[in-house]
Amino acid sequence: MGKIISLLNHKGGVGKTTSTINIGAGMVELGKKVLLIDLDPQANLTLSLGIPRQPITIYEAIRGESDIQPYPAKPGMDVVISTLDLSSAEMELINEAGREYILRELFEPLREAYDYIIIDCPPSLGLLTLNALTASDYVVIPLQTEFLAMQGLAKIKQVIQKVRLRLNKELEIGGVVATMYDGRKVLNRDVVETIKKYFGPLVFNTYIRDTVALAEAPAQQKDIFAYSRNSSGAEDYLNLAQEIIERTS
Ligand SMILES: Nc1ncnc2c1ncn2[C@@H]1O[C@H](COP(=O)(O)OP(=O)(O)O)[C@@H](O)[C@H]1O
Ligand SMILES: [Mg+2]
Repeated sequence: MGKIISLLNHKGGVGKTTSTINIGAGMVELGKKVLLIDLDPQANLTLSLGIPRQPITIYEAIRGESDIQPYPAKPGMDVVISTLDLSSAEMELINEAGREYILRELFEPLREAYDYIIIDCPPSLGLLTLNALTASDYVVIPLQTEFLAMQGLAKIKQVIQKVRLRLNKELEIGGVVATMYDGRKVLNRDVVETIKKYFGPLVFNTYIRDTVALAEAPAQQKDIFAYSRNSSGAEDYLNLAQEIIERTS
């Protein structure tokens, strides 16, 4: 049965979308079948892969108007797209019974078809994110190795605890991944040490290095393996995908 992983951090710009795409693409390289879910109304994942507007997005599915309709992005990788409409979902669902369980129900019939379903969460801890965590087996937290990386972590831990208590007792922290790492910068090295002290073995051995190819790939509407197979970005995300597969099996 497929495993569901949420990429979570309510800070923007820490590498959630980049990691969702390229962990997924790395898993495809390793022979896995993956489904990526764009759960951010900004639709960065959808746009970064150049997926054309579909009649059914995650929004229509969440509203109960349709099943999930995966779009075949490349062999081994399907995507459920998002649009700005999704921004109204939080308000619209506020009075819905079982509103935190909508994604869990939607994904249930898909679990057989994929090895991994990976959710790119929005930069907030609202109802969409609660839905993602309620549907997930694991949460992976990307942390940018910069000043203030750790800020807001207490809040993330609190939300995970509450979800475990009330909505999904199976949820596990799959790991913490250091992103945009530049080993030449003392600050980056210091931040990684702090992250390791705080999270211990939860920190993945693979750090995602800061590299321009990872920032360029979305403009070409490609994942890092399609854009620059020999880049450090491809190497790092392949290693990370391998680590995640090992930890979750
Ligand atoms: N390892 C990296 N090296 C260089 N640029 C990166 C790296 N990871 C992400 N970026 C860039 O940083 C920005 C924020 O990343 P993104 O994945 O969109 O974060 P989030 O989804 O958390 O907001 C994007 O422009 C992205 O291309
Ligand atoms: Mg994003």
